[in-house]
Amino acid sequence: MDAAGLLQVFRRRYLAIALCVVAGLAGALLLNRATAKVYESKSLVFVNIPTGGNVTQQVGGVTLAADLLPSYAQLASSTIVVEKVKQQLGLQESVDALRGRVSAKALAQKLILEIDVDDPDPVRARSIATATTLALESTVADLQKSVNPAFVVNLQVIDPASRGRQIAPRTTYNTVLGVALGLAAGVVVALVLEALDRSVKTGAQTEASTHAPVLGVVPRRLRGGAQLAALGNDATAETYRTLRTGVTFADPDNPPRVIMVTSATEGEGKTTTAVNLAIALAQSGERTVIVDADLRRASVATMLGLEGAVGVTSVITKTARLEDALQVWQDGLIVLPAGTLPPNPSEIVGSQAMGRLIQDLHDYADVIVIDSPPVIPVTDAVVLSTQVEGVILVVRAGRTQRAQASEARRRLDGVQAPVIGSVLNGAKRSSAAGYYAAYHPGTGARTGV
Ligand SMILES: Nc1ncnc2c1ncn2[C@@H]1O[C@H](COP(=O)(O)OP(=O)(O)O)[C@@H](O)[C@H]1O
Ligand SMILES: [Mg+2]
Repeated sequence: MDAAGLLQVFRRRYLAIALCVVAGLAGALLLNRATAKVYESKSLVFVNIPTGGNVTQQVGGVTLAADLLPSYAQLASSTIVVEKVKQQLGLQESVDALRGRVSAKALAQKLILEIDVDDPDPVRARSIATATTLALESTVADLQKSVNPAFVVNLQVIDPASRGRQIAPRTTYNTVLGVALGLAAGVVVALVLEALDRSVKTGAQTEASTHAPVLGVVPRRLRGGAQLAALGNDATAETYRTLRTGVTFADPDNPPRVIMVTSATEGEGKTTTAVNLAIALAQSGERTVIVDADLRRASVATMLGLEGAVGVTSVITKTARLEDALQVWQDGLIVLPAGTLPPNPSEIVGSQAMGRLIQDLHDYADVIVIDSPPVIPVTDAVVLSTQVEGVILVVRAGRTQRAQASEARRRLDGVQAPVIGSVLNGAKRSSAAGYYAAYHPGTGARTGV
């Protein structure tokens, strides 16, 4: 998969990625709430070198102070100092517990000690830090009484302890880390979902699984489905016009005049595609008839808002004459509904009478578009496909499995059905645009033709 493909995967799976990021963020926030707050107060103490004497003595003093610094640091959390602090502040805690929260370190290359105190309370952290600093000062003074006065080192506070600064939970760090981990998990989840998903989503997958050129990629319409989209003037209407062109040019010298629209399974958009293709053809001035040959779930008449009681079955059973069964819709589109649904749809669709009906329709129209039942659950469409000049296989983005689309094509090939192309229906906008840019330079935004 190249970078563009990867980007498409992330766009398709943005919801999974977003959920993971939200989960990471929620985890970080929970951690922040669950972690006990700790504040740290710092003070800085300067270690004074002994003054006076000659240069040699002074250098000796500096060396001595620097040598002593680590020992002073240790002294800060020693029992003797901490005991003083405990008494001065009247703390209840044990000396050991207190020692664990006091630390000191000699700042590198300097004669400065840093004393750190952690405490759940910022004010108390400061009190303890201040007390520790004082206790350390006095302890050092006491310890040096015996030393040569010329070399007495004393401590001087240069930065008194301030109110404690929060050091736990590390709110920002946890939040950033949570979001980053969530994002990483989201990417992994997106790739795994993509690997497990066997449905058709892109034009390229449609072409590969149906073994037929993609004549149109119909975007997914959120409001009102794609029902009579061809009547509008938006991108979807444009797609149906592209499909019309694709059908007309499937065989330029001998354009198919009887076109059946089918798909592998239920609900993939056969009726929607057939009706809109018929409307687009009628709009271009072609004399067009749309026939509802789905004698199991007839829906052409309903979609066009017509009465569908008289139709294909009425003509075949001779309860009505063809010219009486036909209805004229907008743009001169002629409609032949299904009629009363029969108990034996496959026989009716495969009958010679059906063949004659199609022949007779040529008197009324130049192009005949036939809506049909799905290929996999029932044989009707396969049977009917032998009577038509072109078959369009509809695939529903994100729903039709690649194996189903291939199986439908295999069954149609079994009777040498004239499959002229496929339609990817309900594609996400991103893949619809990308497909056209890549495969149909004439309509692509990139070339701007
Ligand atoms: N491009 C689309 N975007 C959104 N909804 C669609 C689209 N195409 C079809 N539908 C909806 O999907 C459902 C099934 O479509 P239909 O054409 O009746 O499928 P079929 O005839 O294959 O059973 C209908 O409710 C229809 O409105
Ligand atoms: Mg249908």
